[in-house]
Amino acid sequence: MNKTIRYKLTASTFSWEIGPGKTIQAWGYNEQVPGPVLRGQAGDTLEIEVTNRLSEPTSVHWHGLRLPAPMDGTEFAQQPIVPGETFTYRFVLPDAGTFWYHSHINEPHQMERGLYGSLVVTGSDEPILDDDKVFIIDDMKLDRHNAFIEPSWFIPRFIEHHDGRQGNTVLVNGKEVPTIVIPAGTTERWRFINASSARYILLSLGGRPFRILATDGGLLEHPETVTKLLITPGERYDIAGGPFEENDSFMIESLSYNRMTIQRSERTCLANVEVGTARISQARIPEQIRVIEPVVATDSPVTRNIRLAVGFNLKNGLSFLINGLKHGNDPPVTAGEIQVWELQNLSLMDHPFHLHGAFFQILSINGDPPAYRAWKDTVNLPPRSSVRIAWIPENNPGTWMYHCHILEHHESGMMANFEVLPSGTATNERALSISAQRTHHH
Ligand code: C2O
Ligand code: CU
Repeated sequence: MNKTIRYKLTASTFSWEIGPGKTIQAWGYNEQVPGPVLRGQAGDTLEIEVTNRLSEPTSVHWHGLRLPAPMDGTEFAQQPIVPGETFTYRFVLPDAGTFWYHSHINEPHQMERGLYGSLVVTGSDEPILDDDKVFIIDDMKLDRHNAFIEPSWFIPRFIEHHDGRQGNTVLVNGKEVPTIVIPAGTTERWRFINASSARYILLSLGGRPFRILATDGGLLEHPETVTKLLITPGERYDIAGGPFEENDSFMIESLSYNRMTIQRSERTCLANVEVGTARISQARIPEQIRVIEPVVATDSPVTRNIRLAVGFNLKNGLSFLINGLKHGNDPPVTAGEIQVWELQNLSLMDHPFHLHGAFFQILSINGDPPAYRAWKDTVNLPPRSSVRIAWIPENNPGTWMYHCHILEHHESGMMANFEVLPSGTATNERALSISAQRTHHH
């Protein structure tokens, strides 16, 4: 039975304790960091009334949701929610999976302070696990009085602009190095969300092997056993945590991953795990957890080239570009028409590419097929790489966008928007006039 689930989110500023005696002036939803975990079942309608009690405009983006364009929360989709105002988002939850919501205005500032939360959607045919936990990871750049640092000198500003803001304080569910308790012998679903501005997480459970169950667009076809897992800003991975031995204890860590930044990457402890007394497990994870049909044949012709580049000159400093433009416009796509996009990273650093409002499949990474098939909305582009993706635009006409999910890069222009036209309008006048305007424009 599909139902309508109502939530209220109030964005405001408040004090938030990230650890014993460490309090920050957070910006967040319902006076908590992260905001509340929103839950629903695929097919349900979610109605979220968002009230802005901040001193500046805000909006909420539903990262990973295939929803109508006016509900996407970007500046192209809606008027900003000004202080004192309320806006109600309403949409059907089309897919099961781990999603998240976050501010989509002045993100480097608003998300850094805590305006994000998770959204868990369950499906009718999920593997059975002993518990379900969300771990939303973020980092904040704080001084010794726990105040947010905005670099004011040229060099620190340049580094933050180049690398994205890499914080010095890592939070899991709004707390510094929390302790997670799990009964021995049990297996839990651990949903990881990387909500940080720029930090890459190379997840490790103290070297223990673990199974990946799902990513951005829900379950994989088969659990994938690994010992480490890269989770870039915007990405989600659900893993099976356990079973562990009684009295075992270890750290959930991020190993160092060199994304070619000026600041060095270091191994970081995210949380401590303590394994308690054994309990009977109900967990059942079949070998086949889903079937994912390929969108297209791997050698299908490319329909669009997207080139990410970082420029530098003495006059303008750094520029973050897509197809040579900051905040560019792309030609429209038509609902239902297959897209094969070649994402080329011409720069010497990594960028996590995020597409709004749709899932894609990775066809190849530098010409090689990915390790497994999956539905994604965010994919890492290593330096000088070329990643081919395929997707089919939903019949959700309107203005959509894609961008680098390093918030400072996105803000500096590493994004583009494009129209999704209703199906059957590929050659209609609207499409022609939009592309004509754009050709003109350049
Ligand atoms: Cu998670 Cu446009 O963003
Ligand atoms: Cu980037």
